[in-house]
Formats: sequence, structure tokens, C-alpha cells
Amino acid sequence: MIHIRFIALPLVLTFFLIGGCVKNQEKNVEMSQESTSVFIESEMAVMVSECLVCHGTKEAQRGPILNGMDYWYLSEQLQKFHSGVRGQNPENRSEYLMGVGIRKVKNQVEIAYLANWFSNQETIPAIRTIRGDLIRGKELYEQRCVQCHGERAEGNRKLQSPALDKLEGWYFIEQMRKFRSGDRGYHPEDEWGKVMASASKDLSDWDLKNMIAYVIDEFGLPEATPLIDSAIPARSSKPF
Ligand code: HEC
Ligand code: HEC
Repeated sequence: MIHIRFIALPLVLTFFLIGGCVKNQEKNVEMSQESTSVFIESEMAVMVSECLVCHGTKEAQRGPILNGMDYWYLSEQLQKFHSGVRGQNPENRSEYLMGVGIRKVKNQVEIAYLANWFSNQETIPAIRTIRGDLIRGKELYEQRCVQCHGERAEGNRKLQSPALDKLEGWYFIEQMRKFRSGDRGYHPEDEWGKVMASASKDLSDWDLKNMIAYVIDEFGLPEATPLIDSAIPARSSKPF
């Protein structure tokens, strides 16, 4: 997978960049390709830094850390925001914010670049905020989640089911509540969102806490120890 990605992206970029220059002499093509790709790289670096305003650890109120998430899932979700399948409901405030965040993203090449960039970042330790009964959580995970999200919460692309092992607790529980209430997976074109929404319908808050505590304890990101209290985004149950 990773190899295909590394090869595919430059190819796609090259295709778009030299598309208009085929009639030029070889030397000119090379030069214009080089200068345009440098230009795009720096433009994309600016865009990534804008994403990181909300997707980095500095802000107390923010979106999820995306580092190390699978390329296919990131690109899938970016497509959904881009086409308005996610992020257009003002009542879902945090998702709506991302609906604003996506406006800068112009096309498929940029989506591919961003998904590739975030999927290649090192994961970072997360602060543990969800406590629960790990034994009950394990039972629940094995009854209700494992068939799609995998034995080690590693995800299953064939079922469009993302890995759950890189999620921070606060984001994990918030998304489960959104699936349960219909704030996520409501759009008529969000086929896979609907699949997940129906998988969450009858779970209580305690079910969610037990299950999330188990997944994070067993498969999740290493635990971070907070140095400063104000650096803990997950202290508030709602990030926005
Ligand atoms: C204004 C803040 C903001 C900006 C800027 C922003 N995002 Fe987001 N993003 C969010 C929030 C908040 C969420 C969580 C949405 C939710 O709660 O449903 C999110 C969700 C996402 C998701 C879905 C993650 C998942 O697990 O499903 C992806 C992917 C994403 N953002 C990528 C990006 C990229 C790439 C950029 C830069 C082009 C960006 N975001 C810019 C706030 C932002
Ligand atoms: C029938 C298959 C299926 C089952 C069962 C299922 N899921 Fe999912 N899950 C999905 C799919 C598909 C998605 C992607 C939804 C989308 O594209 O928005 C998803 C998405 C998610 C997400 C969003 C991740 C993110 O980064 O935003 C979480 C969290 C999640 N599932 C947790 C669970 C848990 C916990 C269970 C067990 C209670 C469960 N799922 C059961 C298929 C399933």
C-alpha cells in the first residue's frame, strides 16, 4: 500500500503539472515542471499549517489528531467534507467547523496530498480521559465491533471500517455519540456512515465508556502525561 501511495502521488502531480506543456522541448518541460512543483509544495505546506491550527496539540479546543491514520480513510473523509456529505449541518458544531476548514481545499490532487501527508506523520501519545470496566468493554467490542474494525482495532479497508487504535478518547466517544444520535451518518449519500450509525444505535453511555477504555488500553496510543493542566483538551467533554 505505502509503496503504491508514494509512487501514485508524484505520478498524479506530474500528470497535472505537465499536461499543458507536452509540445515544449524536453528541457523546457523539465524546467517548468520543476518550478511549478516547488510552487505547489510551498502552497501545500501553508495549507498543512492551516490544518494544524485545528489538528495539532497546541489549541485547547480542537479537532482530532490525524497523525498516522490510514491514507484511504483520510482521503475518504476529506472527499465527504469536500462534497458536503459531512460538515454542512450547523447544529453539529465541530463537524461544521471542519466544513469550513475544507473550503481551502480545491481538488483531488490536494486531497491526495493532504491525506498522504497526515498518514505519514508519527503518532503521538494521548492523554487518557475515558475510564471504564475493561472486561465489559472487551465483551462488547468482541460482540459488536470486531467484525468490522478488526481483532486489534486495526480497521478493515474492504468494509470501509477505519482503524480505531489511533483515536484520542474524547474524539472517540464524541463520534460514537454522534453516530448514535444521527448527527453523523445522516446524509443520504453517506452509505458507510449509515452502516456505522446503525451499529451504534442502542449503546448506552456506559457501554461506550467501557468499550473505549478497553480499546485504548489494549490497542491505543501510548499514554501522555500532562505537564500543564491547560494543555489538556480532553478535560472538557465537548471540544467546541
Ligand atoms: C477550523 C478548524 C479546522 C480546520 C482549519 C481543519 N479542520 Fe479538519 N476537523 C476539524 C474538526 C473540529 C473535526 C472533527 C469533526 C467532527 O467532530 O465530526 C475535523 C475532522 C477532520 C477529519 C475527519 C477525521 C476522522 O477521524 O473522521 C479530517 C480527515 C480532517 N479534519 C482533515 C483536515 C485537513 C486535511 C485540514 C486542512 C485542509 C483540516 N482538517 C482543517 C476542524 C478543522
Ligand atoms: C458493520 C460494520 C461496522 C460495525 C459492526 C462497527 N463499525 Fe464502526 N465504522 C464502520 C464504518 C464503515 C465506518 C466509517 C464511517 C464513515 O465513513 O464515516 C466506521 C467508523 C467508526 C468510527 C469513526 C472513526 C473516526 O475516525 O471518526 C468509530 C469511532 C467507530 N466506527 C467505532 C465503532 C465501534 C466502537 C463499534 C462497536 C460498537 C463499531 N464501530 C462497529 C463500520 C462498522
